[in-house]
Amino acid sequence: MKHVIDIKDLSTEEIDELIKVAKDIINNKEKYAHKCDGKQLATLFFEPSTRTRLSFESAMLALGGEVIGFSEASSSSVSKGESVADTIRVVGAYSDIIAMRHPKEGAPLVASLKSVVPIINAGDGGHNHPTQTLTDLLTIHCEKNRLDNLTIGLCGDLKFGRTVHSLITAMSRYKNIRFVLISPKELVIPEYIKRNILDKNNIEYCETNDIEEYMDQLDVLYMTRVQKERFFNEDDYVRLKDYYILNKEKLEKAKEDLVILHPLPRVNEISTDVDDDKRACYFKQVEYGKYIRMALIMKLLEVE
Ligand code: NCD
Repeated sequence: MKHVIDIKDLSTEEIDELIKVAKDIINNKEKYAHKCDGKQLATLFFEPSTRTRLSFESAMLALGGEVIGFSEASSSSVSKGESVADTIRVVGAYSDIIAMRHPKEGAPLVASLKSVVPIINAGDGGHNHPTQTLTDLLTIHCEKNRLDNLTIGLCGDLKFGRTVHSLITAMSRYKNIRFVLISPKELVIPEYIKRNILDKNNIEYCETNDIEEYMDQLDVLYMTRVQKERFFNEDDYVRLKDYYILNKEKLEKAKEDLVILHPLPRVNEISTDVDDDKRACYFKQVEYGKYIRMALIMKLLEVE
């Protein structure tokens, strides 16, 4: 049985196959409408979510399956003191596959050790978010027709942003990738990502706090929200939350075919006047999230 806790749980070939299937789903939705008839997905969200939970649910429904679950820890027996391990054993008796989000780093991994059904990590603390990365990869592939030879700017909260950590991990496998890491010094990328992913794979990267410095070189610009819920100190959050606001003016030197992404929710990082720029792909990205999750659910349930 396969779990997806980290994007590294999927090989490059498996990711390529998921992208291929997702593209086929986009073009032939009816072909997939009964692939998961009679199967149940449980969504266990111990932390808030809009897109990730609803896209998982909508993905399973579009495959003909059913959905159960909870969207906050307070409405489950966790509030009575039940452990994640026990919750998972129970839910495994009611479902065929589980998507789980948890504020603690490593909780989905612990769950996977006890689970009798596949577990998908839908975000664990400031650590990983593999299905957002699959969404990002599908979006980049649809927009650029390639996942290699790209200069990717990642901007905002690179310290706590789990989507950034998983995206760097995934993109580091492709040829000729360069990263421009744009953040205030308080929110730089963690050392373990630099050491274990970037340096280990000889990936070219630079760090700056100036969003405009390398703008003319970027093929992809991935904006992120400052992760309020991971701060120990409210004052630090308030000081850093509006550090970057992407607007038309800052895009002046950008390439004509730049792809602007954001995992959403957006707080203030992208001014709404950018939304109608043809390079703004963050709402398309939301839609792609459903199709890649359909492909992933089918793979983990071993549906042909
Ligand atoms: C992201 C997350 O939960 O990490 N959202 C999402 O899943 N689309 C990004 C964020 O919350 O800032």
